[in-house]
Amino acid sequence: MVGLQVDQIAQELTRGQLPIPEKMTAVVLDAYTGVEALRVEQRPVPKPGKDEVLVKMAASPINPSDLAVLEGHYGFKLTPPIVPGGEGSGMVVAVGPGMIGRYFLGKRVACLNQGKGDGMWAEYVVTSAKGGVLPLNKAISLEQGAMSFVNPLTASTFLEIAQKCGHKAIVLTAAASSLGQMVNRLFRSAGLQVINIVRRDAQVEFLKEQGASVVLNSSKANFEEQLRDLCHQHDSHLAFDAVAGKMTGQLLTALPEHSKVIIYSALSREAVEASPSQIIFEDKAIDGFWLGPYISKKNLLQILRMWRRAQRLMLTELKSTIRAEIPLQEAKQAVKDYLDHMTGGKILLKPSYS
Ligand SMILES: NC(=O)c1ccc[n+]([C@@H]2O[C@H](COP(=O)([O-])OP(=O)(O)OC[C@H]3O[C@@H](n4cnc5c(N)ncnc54)[C@H](OP(=O)(O)O)[C@@H]3O)[C@@H](O)[C@H]2O)c1
Repeated sequence: MVGLQVDQIAQELTRGQLPIPEKMTAVVLDAYTGVEALRVEQRPVPKPGKDEVLVKMAASPINPSDLAVLEGHYGFKLTPPIVPGGEGSGMVVAVGPGMIGRYFLGKRVACLNQGKGDGMWAEYVVTSAKGGVLPLNKAISLEQGAMSFVNPLTASTFLEIAQKCGHKAIVLTAAASSLGQMVNRLFRSAGLQVINIVRRDAQVEFLKEQGASVVLNSSKANFEEQLRDLCHQHDSHLAFDAVAGKMTGQLLTALPEHSKVIIYSALSREAVEASPSQIIFEDKAIDGFWLGPYISKKNLLQILRMWRRAQRLMLTELKSTIRAEIPLQEAKQAVKDYLDHMTGGKILLKPSYS
């Protein structure tokens, strides 16, 4: 159990029984040209500054946003070489000056890359004590905890958005994703209908086995007609779209008047195709969603409340399936494997502690 090993070593580091090493293994991206620009190197362990913490990493997933970072298509873009990795988990083993950092010393935390420094695919990470780390619930393993931020908080936010505007049914694309599965469980528990869209028959079966009642395959000939009928039947006026390209226009066409499509990713890598007349004459709108800026508009109390609620659901509605746990040294091959096959669980990158 790597989790236990990290716990043990981190406790000894925190108490000063073990020195913090000078060097660490890290995955480095040399240029924004995709997976081939990844390599593994030994580099100095970073030192925390004011209100910063040093985290000994336990695990970090490969997410679609990491793929976008590798290609330079993400919302932040630091000058390479950079360490990728958007989120992860570990233990705080040292802190810089400041009260907030001291609160986290010795604690198990989930970490978020806020786009101001290196990411999580490394043995050690320095991050801000103000928003870069949050404490992990005791019941959650470091492996599951490594996926606490991005998808659980996005699924929770989608429910918040839907409920705030009184929606009873939503449409969701790329619905067999980890996030899609969370959205399905969360919305079902809250009594809201999800009209799921996937692109393969196997994904239709997969979601239905998990209890989804409405799943459409976008590659079928009658997809647009079926989608339109279902949107009207369930009076659905809101869609969350991870695909973009042609899909956004198909959603806009299928939804009734006075509807909105919220684009939260661009998996198709294509520009949005949509009819202007629907936007002008049918009061249909296209909006965007990015978790970081959405959450940063909340005050600290609201963020902590949302975090605690999400942590409570991490073993049920907001649980992620782990497909494989791979050493950091093999990150390049792991990213290639993930690119080949995204549905079916997360690949976690882990430092080796033997
Ligand atoms: N905006 C935000 O703040 C935010 C936050 C969280 C997540 N997200 C987005 O949410 C999506 C799901 O994330 P995740 O971590 O849950 O992903 P995941 O578990 O890795 O799954 C990705 C899913 O996308 C499907 N997919 C890939 N390319 C596609 C395409 N061109 N058309 C249709 N489906 C496609 C895959 O199906 P195949 O197996 O068929 O490839 C797979 O089911 C991602 O796009 C991610 O960027 C956005």
